[in-house]
Formats: sequence, C-alpha cells, structure tokens
Amino acid sequence: MPADIFEKLLANRGPLGQHAKESHGYFTFPKLEGDIGPHMIFRGKKKLNWSLNNYLGLANHPEVRKADADAAADYGFAMPMGARMMSGNSNPHEQLEKELSEFVNKEDTILCNFGYQAILSSIDCIVDRHDVIVYDAESHACILDGVRLHMGKRYVFKHNDIEDCEKQLERATKLANETGGAILVITEGVFGMRGDQGKIKEIVELKKKFNFRLLVDDAHGIGTLGKTGAGTGEEQNCQDGIDIYFGTFAKSFALIGGFISSDAQVVEYLRYNMRSQIFAKALPITLVVGLLKRLELMRRTPDFKNKLWEITHALQSGLMDAGFNIGDTNSCVTPVYLNGSIPESTNLIYDLRENYNVFCSMVVYPVVPKGMIILRLIPTAVHTLEDVQYTIECFSKIVGKLKAGEYMSDHIAEVNQ
Ligand SMILES: Cc1ncc(COP(=O)(O)O)c(C=O)c1O
Repeated sequence: MPADIFEKLLANRGPLGQHAKESHGYFTFPKLEGDIGPHMIFRGKKKLNWSLNNYLGLANHPEVRKADADAAADYGFAMPMGARMMSGNSNPHEQLEKELSEFVNKEDTILCNFGYQAILSSIDCIVDRHDVIVYDAESHACILDGVRLHMGKRYVFKHNDIEDCEKQLERATKLANETGGAILVITEGVFGMRGDQGKIKEIVELKKKFNFRLLVDDAHGIGTLGKTGAGTGEEQNCQDGIDIYFGTFAKSFALIGGFISSDAQVVEYLRYNMRSQIFAKALPITLVVGLLKRLELMRRTPDFKNKLWEITHALQSGLMDAGFNIGDTNSCVTPVYLNGSIPESTNLIYDLRENYNVFCSMVVYPVVPKGMIILRLIPTAVHTLEDVQYTIECFSKIVGKLKAGEYMSDHIAEVNQ
C-alpha cells in the first residue's frame, strides 16, 4: 500500500516546522501590532522595531494613507475582475507601468501580483530547455525556485565571485553552442541577508567576452540605492547593462506586488507569455493607485532616501565603533554577526525583546552555518538617532552576556507557557 501523504508530512515537519510548538507566535509568526513604524506593540508591550523593510517610511505616511483610503473608497478591492489579458486591464495599471519604466530607465514594464512570483514566472517564461542559466549561489528562494522550473542546464557560481562566474560562463557557452540555446545570468542587486550588493557592474563587463542576458532581482535596491532611488544599477552606473530589471513593491514601496522592466519587445513577450499573469487575476486598482502615489512621493522627495541613509550610516558606523562585526554590507541591510548555539540565540533574543524592548529578526542554522547567529537590522527613514544609540547600547550589553556564557543553557526560553 502506498504511504499516506499526511502521515509523511507529520513525520518530518521540516527544518523550521519541527520547532513550531515552542517557537510559534514568538520566534516565528510574531504579531507586531499598531501603526507600522519603529515603535510597535509585541505581546502587549511597545518595542523598538528593526525588522520591517519599510525602508523609506512610506507605510504610514499621511499622504500614502490618504491615497490608499481614497482609492479604496473609489474602487473597492474587487476591481478589476480578471487577468489583465482577458478583462482586467485598466488605465491606472498602464499608467503605473509607464511611470515605473521612466523611473528605472527601461522601455517598458509589466506589473506582477507578487515579487516572488514575478521572478519565478519570468525565468520560466524566458528560457527553454536548450538555454543555460548561470546564477549566484546565494540567490533568494524565488530565483532558486525559478531555476528549478528550468528544464535545461544550470551552472551556479560562488557568491559574488566574478572569477567563478566567468568560469561558469565558459561552461555555459560551450554547452549553449552544442544545444543552440542562449544564456541567462541571474543575480541580485542587494543580497538581503548579508546586505552586500551584487557585482552587477563586473558581470555587465563580462558581456564583452560572453554572449548572455542579465536578470537582476533588485528587491532591496529599488528605492534605497542610486542617485534617484532607481536601484543598484543606477548606484553602480550600469543600469543599461541590466537586460531584465526586477523590483518589488513589498519593501521601499510598502505595499505588495512587483514589476519587471526591460526592452519594449521583451515586455510585450512577457505580457503574452508569462503564465502567472495570463492565468491569474490582476493587481487590484486600489493598490495600483496607492503605488502611483508612493512612486510620486519617491520621485518628488529625496528626503526619504537621505534620511534612510543618515540612519543607516549612524547605525552601521556606531555598531562598528562598538566593536561589532557587520560583515561586508554596502546597503541598508545591517547584519550583526555573533557566535553561539541555537539555545543561546533564542535566549539572547528573548532577553533583548523582554528586558530591553528591542525587536529584530534573527537568522540561525540552517539558513547560516551552525554556530553563527545573525541579528538582522533594517533601518528606515522613520527611525531616529536616539533609536540607533539605544540599540547599540543594548547590543553591547547582550553581547557581553553572550560572551560571559549567560545565555548558555540546554533550556530554550519558554515563550509559549
Ligand atoms: C531578494 C528578494 N527577491 C524577491 C523577494 C520576493 O518579493 P515579494 O515579497 O514582493 O514577493 C524578496 C522578498 O523577501 C527578496 O528579498
């Protein structure tokens, strides 16, 4: 008799799911309540919060809140009914695509309902089984899942290692010559865990030697990097070398959805062939109108980005001055690298949240090697220099305790009693 699928799932609940009973509601699925910002309520108490990708502070900006409320009153959330191709197209959708194309300096843009799905589905749409994908080893899950859909060959290069990228491009070129296929290179503008920028400019340079197209996932770069906030390509002065540019609405834009920008004919190809957009309902107009307002504010007001970077510089230089290892971030993402076991990391986070009222995300094994703990801080334009100062003081205290072995215990903080 075949096994029962439910029994199989329950026998092995997965690397994170196996800890659900002890961690749910605290370390996983925590509920942050109140207005989105640096001070939010967690389990009934106010915490200084560094865990949201609300980079520019737009989530709770009065003009944004008003635009969202007005759009909801005008359109509701049902419109449009249907996929863009069939019955769900609208003027605001086309207007947003036009304005985004201007913003990121590409000919055309297609809106997508989720950033994750935009990457996955565009990869699926662009390559066929004769083509070869070359991608960075530390790519986000959505890239990995897009690559998993690919029926042809793929070569992975060591994270941000241009020499290895070149080596993989040599292999890919040889293979593509045999299959008659083409090569797609995929990397990220900013790697969301470590905060290091992808070496986009150097990869673009490799086009002089190899024939390939470049897809860049700039989820963390859009709005935060570049003179106008147009992202990592603008920051590194190589936007023209990015053939397919992806940005999410889930971070700087503080909404949901994503977009892909490229040459007009390529975007037209995506419009007529990208399965997840052809066979799924379009983004609600209310969200699209809210996005137009956010984009207008981003383009009109450099203050949001300037303030974000003021806070980022203060946080990163303050942490380094206090002796913390923040790795090689050159974006707003601020990881603090510590050494400790999983019980130590949970006890430390518990202490930080309960006794110092600081809330940040923690990354441990299996996402990073065993023994490593990353406390991940996301500065925003709505944090203050006092928030920065207070956090560094708290971090110094908890790391003193970590080094003194005070969090060492077989007993993981019991948060669900
Ligand atoms: C690098 C990267 N790509 C894609 C995504 C997915 O974007 P979305 O949240 O818009 O689906 C994320 C979100 O975490 C991300 O960090």
